Amino acid sequence: MEEYNVYSMIGEEGFERLIAAFYKQIPQDEILGPMYTGRKLADAEQRLRDFLVVRFGGPARYLEQRGHPRLRMRHNPFPIDQTARDRWIQLMHNPFQKAQLPADAEEPLRSFFASTSTFLINRGEQQ
Ligand code: HEM
Repeated sequence: MEEYNVYSMIGEEGFERLIAAFYKQIPQDEILGPMYTGRKLADAEQRLRDFLVVRFGGPARYLEQRGHPRLRMRHNPFPIDQTARDRWIQLMHNPFQKAQLPADAEEPLRSFFASTSTFLINRGEQQ
């Protein structure tokens, strides 16, 4: 499955560029920014990056440091409705433009983000 080759295609560096560009936009965002109040953005950035690294075939640092991801549980404190979910996806557009990853890497990442972000909706009509 091509998904498991993403790490070998883009390496640490590819994930780093993508996720750094994503997190740069967070503080100014009026929907997502407030959810990070009081958190160290650099640490949050590292958690998302390490999670993606292991999910897409790289080293298991995330699992060593954080254990099982339990993403729905860990997102429960944050009010994720359809609008917040759509904003998260929208904020990923620029980073993809900037990072210029090979299409074979970008496609499985985008598809994973789309489904995972929907799965994380925990407020609003869909509940
Ligand atoms: C749908 C909109 C989303 C919102 C509003 C959101 C928000 C947040 C917030 C506020 C945190 C805490 C930051 C921290 O770690 O200190 C977090 C953590 C995290 N998010 Fe999201 N997130 C969203 C979607 C996603 C998606 C799609 C993924 C995976 C592709 C993801 C993966 C993670 C991971 C791995 C962590 C760290 C979990 C941990 O080890 O504690 N999130 N998210």
